[in-house]
Amino acid sequence: MTYPRKHLLAIEGLEPPHIADLLDLAESYALLNRSGKTQRDLLKGRTLINLFFEDSTRTRTSFELAGKRLGADVINMSVSTSSVNKGETLLDTASTLNAMHCDLLVVRHGQSGAPSLLSQKVDAAVINAGDGTHEHPTQALLDALTIRRHKGRLEGLIVAICGDIAHSRVARSNMHLLTTMGSRVRVVGPPTLIPAEAARLGVEVFHDMKAGLAGADVVMMLRLQRERMSGGMVPSAREFFRFYGLNAEKLACAKPDSIVMHPGPMNRGVEIDSAIADHPTRSVIGEQVEMGVACRMAVLDVLARGLRRNV
Ligand code: ASP
Ligand code: CP
Repeated sequence: MTYPRKHLLAIEGLEPPHIADLLDLAESYALLNRSGKTQRDLLKGRTLINLFFEDSTRTRTSFELAGKRLGADVINMSVSTSSVNKGETLLDTASTLNAMHCDLLVVRHGQSGAPSLLSQKVDAAVINAGDGTHEHPTQALLDALTIRRHKGRLEGLIVAICGDIAHSRVARSNMHLLTTMGSRVRVVGPPTLIPAEAARLGVEVFHDMKAGLAGADVVMMLRLQRERMSGGMVPSAREFFRFYGLNAEKLACAKPDSIVMHPGPMNRGVEIDSAIADHPTRSVIGEQVEMGVACRMAVLDVLARGLRRNV
């Protein structure tokens, strides 16, 4: 295993062998999970704290499940009922958790860079579970694992990431991971939702959905992140669906065996038609969630190997 860092704060900066090793380990956990077995001795005596300042269903639950399957003591801190409401700062909250000898700290925060800041203040290994519009590294890992399971590789695949790219940390982590692993990445959306840095990241930009999907192996749909928009960036949901919502007609432009992905949560009828989201052979959205548990087990395993304290 070649993972070089104490924390997992971003995909940017990781090299192909680091990513490939994490995916290989995650694949072995996917098999273990399907067999119904656990490996509860691996993180025995370790404490994992989930610290989520933003809402989550998949990420928080799967980190909890991943930690428990590996034998860690898992604590979910409910920020909405914590002393953050009494004015305690992010850093003071972190120092408090640090004093309890937390080993692995999983953080989601609305500010880009918050997990990185925390990683400088605590002894625990910090995992970024999504920070502002910056990155969501474990999402990119689970997406890559899902693609690899279906296509056998990442290199040379055409991956179209569609919708609200500008506000999406999922898009940013995926752009870094997939370009690093040799995929041809396209971003597809209205000009207001494509970030200026897209060209620097080595991806192709499309404003026409059918052109962007032509010949794609993978079609990844994203939610409109309205909570990060300062108004007026998209017309009505109905108009957005007409131009950028994935339906059977637009999907017909991609390869006949292309797969459809979505990190969730979905807004059906806005970025994706229900019939496509639930398509029995093309949609791999359920499998993405399953791979999320396996990838998070792999990340916890690797970071725990780097912790100094012996238990
Ligand atoms: N769940 C993902 C995230 O937290 C995507 C989304 O919310 O649309 O970034
Ligand atoms: N994909 C994702 O991060 O989902 P949650 O926001 O539900 O965790």
